[in-house]
Amino acid sequence: MPLLKLLHFAALLCWCGALLYLPALIAAGTRRSDSLFYRDHAHLTRMVFTLVATPAALLAIGSGTALFLRDAIFEGWLIVKLTTVAGMVLCHAWCGVLILRVERAPEQSIDLRCGLIGVAAMLLIAATLWLVLAKPFS
Ligand code: HEM
Repeated sequence: MPLLKLLHFAALLCWCGALLYLPALIAAGTRRSDSLFYRDHAHLTRMVFTLVATPAALLAIGSGTALFLRDAIFEGWLIVKLTTVAGMVLCHAWCGVLILRVERAPEQSIDLRCGLIGVAAMLLIAATLWLVLAKPFS
């Protein structure tokens, strides 16, 4: 398998995994009032976001862009795929905003927002995979 595509797969596996895990992790951090648990948990959540999810997102987007420039692919499915990827980037940014909010006020209830991000990320990942495998509009 060509190395660039392998890099694209590896990066998007890490990104998609982190994007599905983060909303649950963020919501779990608001469940207990114990301050030691809260500090450790907030640290873990921030580490997953900054050391796993964000570098993986940059690698997935960078390798995908390199693939389409190298192979000069300008087809309909890719344009629609870029739209679903933009939605994934919004979910990623929303996770970042929630992490900051929970760090400032850990007692607030954010379950509904975390649930929404999780469901949106799941649907967007499924749509992106379908677009790239079925290649409609080409
Ligand atoms: C800006 C972001 C991205 C760009 C520009 C991009 C672009 C591309 C390109 C040009 C290919 C090669 C298609 C081919 O050779 O037929 C590809 C392959 C692929 N991409 Fe992406 N991609 C991006 C993000 C993603 C994401 C977030 C996912 C998953 C959720 C994903 C899943 C895949 C898969 C599964 C393949 C392999 C398809 C195949 O070999 O049939 N990509 N991508």
